[in-house]
Amino acid sequence: MRERTSMNLRRRGRPRKNIGTHEERLMAKITSDTAVVGVIGLGYVGLPLALEFAKAGVRTIGIDVSKEKIATLRAKRNYIQDISDDEVRDVVAKKTLVPTTDFAAVSECDVIYICVPTPFTPNKDPDISHVVDATRATAEHLRVGQLVILKSTTFPGTTSKYVQPILDSVGLQLGEEYFLAFSPERIDPGNKVWHTQNTPVVVGGTTKACTDLAVAINRRIISEVVAVSTPAVAEMEKLLENIFRSVNIALVNELAQLCDRIGVNIWEVVDAASTKPFGYMPFYPGPGIGGHCILIDPYYLAWMAREHDFVTNFVTLAAEVNESMPFYVRAMIEREIARQPIALANAKILLLGMAFKRDVDDLRHSPALKVAELLFDDGITNVSYFDPYIPSVEVGKRLLQSRKTLTEKYLASFDVVVITTDHSSFDIEFICRHARVVIDTRNATKHIKGARKNIVLLGEGR
Ligand SMILES: NC(=O)c1ccc[n+]([C@@H]2O[C@H](COP(=O)([O-])OP(=O)(O)OC[C@H]3O[C@@H](n4cnc5c(N)ncnc54)[C@H](O)[C@@H]3O)[C@@H](O)[C@H]2O)c1
Repeated sequence: MRERTSMNLRRRGRPRKNIGTHEERLMAKITSDTAVVGVIGLGYVGLPLALEFAKAGVRTIGIDVSKEKIATLRAKRNYIQDISDDEVRDVVAKKTLVPTTDFAAVSECDVIYICVPTPFTPNKDPDISHVVDATRATAEHLRVGQLVILKSTTFPGTTSKYVQPILDSVGLQLGEEYFLAFSPERIDPGNKVWHTQNTPVVVGGTTKACTDLAVAINRRIISEVVAVSTPAVAEMEKLLENIFRSVNIALVNELAQLCDRIGVNIWEVVDAASTKPFGYMPFYPGPGIGGHCILIDPYYLAWMAREHDFVTNFVTLAAEVNESMPFYVRAMIEREIARQPIALANAKILLLGMAFKRDVDDLRHSPALKVAELLFDDGITNVSYFDPYIPSVEVGKRLLQSRKTLTEKYLASFDVVVITTDHSSFDIEFICRHARVVIDTRNATKHIKGARKNIVLLGEGR
């Protein structure tokens, strides 16, 4: 009886004078920019998305479980590097973006994007608990005429097998009374060329109405929206994009190790191969991969494949090669220590760049972090780092702090300096001039001509 009462309440949102289907009414709201957009999870993906809608004049409600993030936004402050502080201040002040921790706000929204994390467990199995929690919280406030779009990267079948049953349990008819789609995120933090508006997105709805509505809402802020036939296609294409990178990086990481043995410079090889105008695109070796996507996604696919008695050997091998790279860098460092009259335990190492890639402040799964951890494991207690984007970092139980500036004296005080992340603010010439030994894992020293006696480049073949 209680269920029926709450269902009637959910359905009561439908004003009598409205004509047409729920799909038509929602479409009319979307195309007239009167639809209210909700974004659940205001991190690297969700906050820029919410900001785009708010800047376009769409009333936007941002929901996050992090009280700290919501308090920061309410104080009109920004915490995501790529987005402008002024824009956040402006939309929060105008109340076009309303940040809250209260999921009851879902009922005010016509469209709800879910942008929560999809990490893996310590055993590297998918952890979709944030998606499930956010969906359950959405279901508690779901009403007729709403569209839910999952954006978190995940394995094919998540939308239909995990999200849909939770929303269906409310009792509304999917495709007629409520709508559901998957639309993966392609944001590339730190990329100055490709951003939310000009990067095409893919959308796969559960029914045709779901797809049409999800395409329409995305078109309000994104120049090109590509519809596919099902959410599973959209889920899988996102994994293909990321695994494509993982596999190609792994290939070049393996070849870099071979080149080190045979005395050939992999960087020169890649540059030479890049002169082919078709059928090839360059990928570069490095100390490993990090971030919230490329490292994790192969494991999402491998886990799902196992359920279907399928082993993704190729994909898993690529992940394995990439994850071996911090170990390879550790071996390079220890070899350079062995060449000096110091005991391993007394060596002083400086890692330049702790973020997982150039010019970002994202530390998640950073290979530099792994290198630091491996050096500590080997009993090297004097490991420091310098990163203008990361003031402090925890490695195991140790709290490390970055210096504010790099001085000649500081650089010269280390036995080995390792370029783990090639931030563009690094003065490579200055570093190479004052460091005793530089291990370059990113080819950041490529412009240093002449005597490179103190530079050891990963994959150089020396
Ligand atoms: N960061 C990227 O560059 C990127 C790019 C493409 C896709 N993705 C995918 O997008 C998703 C989100 O990634 P992100 O980098 O934005 O993560 P993030 O950790 O930066 O942000 C996620 C936010 O969700 C919040 N959250 C967690 N559980 C919640 C819940 N139950 N309800 C409400 N809020 C909740 C967290 O507090 C956090 O603020 C992931 O699936 C990721 O793989 C990320």
